[in-house]
Parts: sequence; C-alpha cells; structure tokens
Amino acid sequence: MRGCSFHADDVECRNTPPGTSDEMPNLSLRRIGLERLYMQMADVMVKEGWKEAGYEYVCIDDCWPSHQRDAQGRLQADPKRFPGGIKKLADYVHSKGLKLGIYADVGKNTCAGYPGSLGYYETDAQTFADWGVDLLKFDGCYMDRTLLGEGYINMSHALNKTGRSILYSCEWPLYEWPIRQPNYTAIRETCNHWRNFDDVFDSWSSVKSILDWTASHQDIIVPSAGPGGWNDPDMLVIGNFGLSHDQQESQMALWAIMAAPLLMSNDLRDICPRSKELLQNRRIIAISQDPLGKQGYRTLKVDSFEVWERPLSKNQLAIAILNKQEIGGPRGYVIGAVPGWKTCDPLCNVTQILPQYKEMGIQTPHSRLVVSVNPSGTALLTVTPISKLHWQDMSVKHKHPTVL
Ligand code: GAL
Repeated sequence: MRGCSFHADDVECRNTPPGTSDEMPNLSLRRIGLERLYMQMADVMVKEGWKEAGYEYVCIDDCWPSHQRDAQGRLQADPKRFPGGIKKLADYVHSKGLKLGIYADVGKNTCAGYPGSLGYYETDAQTFADWGVDLLKFDGCYMDRTLLGEGYINMSHALNKTGRSILYSCEWPLYEWPIRQPNYTAIRETCNHWRNFDDVFDSWSSVKSILDWTASHQDIIVPSAGPGGWNDPDMLVIGNFGLSHDQQESQMALWAIMAAPLLMSNDLRDICPRSKELLQNRRIIAISQDPLGKQGYRTLKVDSFEVWERPLSKNQLAIAILNKQEIGGPRGYVIGAVPGWKTCDPLCNVTQILPQYKEMGIQTPHSRLVVSVNPSGTALLTVTPISKLHWQDMSVKHKHPTVL
C-alpha cells in the first residue's frame, strides 16, 4: 500500500508558539483553507508523477471534525476547515483517480481532543462509507488499554458491515506495548497495517529511534507482516527540513526494506527535486512493493555499520548498508560480509540503487566488492542469483562470460 498523506495536524493541530504560525512555510491555513489544500495536493499528485509512481491515497489526519456530532450522532466535518464536507472532498479526490483516507479514534476522544468513536463504531463506519472514504487511520488515545483489542476488532466488524472496501490502519500495538506484548496474530487478522512505535518527527534522531525499536523487536513483529497486513513505522518525512539528503536516502531505503506503507508527510507543492526523485524512485518502490511480501530485518551490526536485508521474489535479495558513524567521510563496506551473500553462490548479478544507480556486474561468493557509504547514509543494492545452468547457458551463447 502506498499513499500520500497530508496531515491536518501538521498544519494547525500542533501547538505553534505564539507569533510563529504565520511563518509556517506554505502551510498556513489562514491563507488557503484546509479543504483547498487537500484538493491542491491531489492535483499535484496527478500532475507531478506521484500517482504514476504508485502513490494513491490522500489522507486526512486528526482535527478534521467538529467538536459536536450532528443530531443523528454522526461525526461532521469542521465547517470552517471543510466547508464542502468530506463527501465533496472524497468525490474530488476520486475524480482524480485517487483515494481518500480519514482519521478517527477507538476511544472517547482523538489525541487532539476531537470526538472519538467509542460508542459510535457502527455509526462512524457507516458515515465514512457513505462519504466514500477508502482508508481509516484509527488512533488509540483516550481508551482503556485493556479494552483496546475489543475496540479495534469491533470497528473492523463495523467497517466490514458497510460493504465498502476501506483499508484499516490501526495503532493498536503502539498503545498495547506499555501494558503487555500485543497479540500480533489478532492484529494481523483485524488490521491492514498497524503502528508499533512513537510518531515520527522530522529529525534523524527520530528516524534512528524507529529503526532501533524495529530491529530490537524484529523477532516479534517481522513474522506478522505479509500481503494484507504490514508493520507501519510511520510516515516518510523526506522532502521536509530535518534530514540531510543522505538521511533521506536512508529513510527511503530502510522503509522499503521494512515493507512499510509509503505514506509521505510533506508539502508536495514545494518539494526539492532531489527529494522528489528519491520518493519516486521506481527501483526503490519496487523493493518496497515486492510481491513476495516479506519484511526485511537487521542482519548485522558491526563497526557502526548496520546491514538490513529483505528477501524478494525470484530469489532476489535487497541489501541496505547503513553507515551510522556521524563523523568523518564515506566509509567502505565489503558486501561479501553480508550474511545473505550466499545468494551469490555460484554467481549473482549486483545492482546498486543508492546512493546512485550502478550496475556492479556478475559476482562470485569470493568477490571483494566494496561499497562506499556516507555518514548517516545508506547503500541500497539488489542481488540476483544466477544458477549454474543459466551460467552455462550464457557461456555457450556469449562464449566469454563476464566473471570477475
Ligand atoms: C498520534 C498519532 C499520530 C497523529 C496524532 C494526531 O497519536 O500516533 O500519527 O495521528 O496522534 O493527533
């Protein structure tokens, strides 16, 4: 699942220190109004190649509803922010060939204090279906944690009952971890993706903390991921202000390795060309969306390098080598030291995707191929095994196989 997410809370829900809100780059609600902002984002997604690259959802986050439900107990959009209502926005987004995501909460209130769905699961599910919503992000604030599972399961029944196909994005495990180890079998049966850990911020320390949490819980969470249900390490913050380009490449590479939903939180109307190119990189997106649907994991931690690997379809392997040394210059890493290098026996074809595309040719188990990785950057590669038979075939055809 890939999507573009533009978050209402990024615009105005967060507490902005007094006097600074007008300086918020390009995102000032006062200037354009939230409804138009979502429409503009949908326009850009079509015009600027995002849709073609596979990004298909425009997602609303917290702060979209009115503080009061209507006379029938239904949620209603804040009339100032969404004067035309959510149905009108959904129609617009659909007219562009895109899908609309919305946000609600399993408990009494959303995290920002708007009405939650507790006691209204069926009403809210039906309202979202009537509006033509295609994705529901269901948060877990203001809920008795011992009742989380029940709430998330009941909402999934309510969504199914509407008959509309609505992708169900949960935060169930994130809120359950502080009290016990979540039941990932039940979560996978209920949700299409699920947040496990803290909200991402626009900083390298935040991205690193997500990677660390994921690696230290990989034995528990990785087996639960697969077609239909994915771990969600939160949004891509590429194209904002807090990450260097190397760090942006690291986030993109590792989110692809983690089989994460690719949800962007950025301003697509004003994004630097390098970030755009990275987010639209077809080769990285192909790794992320590989049909085998296995989540990758950290396989090695040595000398401030982290190696992450993801098995891909057709026996291919994706390898990410992250240089966590935040001082000095580029450092070399011998790819043959990667645990999955056995894929290369007897031969393989290696392609580097990041930091720049490079065909590295046919390799053997003994090749001493070195990749150079910048501080806080990542080298991303794919390894395609070549069977002995195929090799013999090639040598007959070409007489001189290129073996290094
Ligand atoms: C958080 C949630 C965030 C965002 C926020 C909105 O709890 O994890 O992704 O939705 O609430 O208030």
